Amino acid sequence: MQEEEEKETMSNIVLIGFMGVGKGTIARALVKKSDMFGVDTDDLIESMENRKVKTIFSENGEEYFRALEAKTAKWLSKNVKNSIISTGGGFFKVDKLEKIGTVVYLRSSFDGIIERLNAQPNAKKKFKKRPLLNDIKKAKKLFAQRAPLYEAKADIVVHVEKMSVDKIVAKILKEAK
Ligand code: S3P
Repeated sequence: MQEEEEKETMSNIVLIGFMGVGKGTIARALVKKSDMFGVDTDDLIESMENRKVKTIFSENGEEYFRALEAKTAKWLSKNVKNSIISTGGGFFKVDKLEKIGTVVYLRSSFDGIIERLNAQPNAKKKFKKRPLLNDIKKAKKLFAQRAPLYEAKADIVVHVEKMSVDKIVAKILKEAK
C-alpha cells in the first residue's frame, strides 16, 4: 500500500522566468494535460496577506515581499507534492529552490515578452500590476541581470518565444519525467 502511494506521487514542476513570459498560462495548460494540481506563489502570498502584490510592494517594500517568498518556498518544499508551481519572476532566488521540484525555465527575449504582453486584451492591467515592469528601461536591465541566473537554476530550459502553448506543455511533460 505504502509503495503504491509513493509511485503515484510525482515531483513538483516549478516554472521560473521573467515577468510576463507566460508562467501562469503554461501552468494552467500543464494542469489540464496532467493529473497534477496547480499553485502560484504570488497567489499564495496575496491570500496569506489579503493584499495584492502591488500593494505589498508599495506599503512594505520589496525586501518584505522577498521574505514572504522565502516563507512560501519553505512551505512548498515541506507540504506540496504532485503539483505545477508557477512562481513570481524573482522567486528563483529563494534558498534550496531545487528542493521544491524540477525547475523549468521559460526563456524568451525581453522584446518577445513585451510583445506578448502588448498582444493581450488587458495589456495595461498586466503592466500595472507588476511594480518592476512599470519602468521599461529598468525592467530591461533587470532582465539582462537575471537571464544567466535563471539559466543556472534550471533543470530544463524551454525557449518559449513563438512556440505554441501545446508544444511547450508537451516538451515540459516529456522532459520532466
Ligand atoms: C516579480 C514578479 C512578479 C511578482 C512581483 C515581483 C519579480 O510576478 O512576483 O511583482 O521580481 O520579477 P510575475 O513574474 O508573475 O509577474
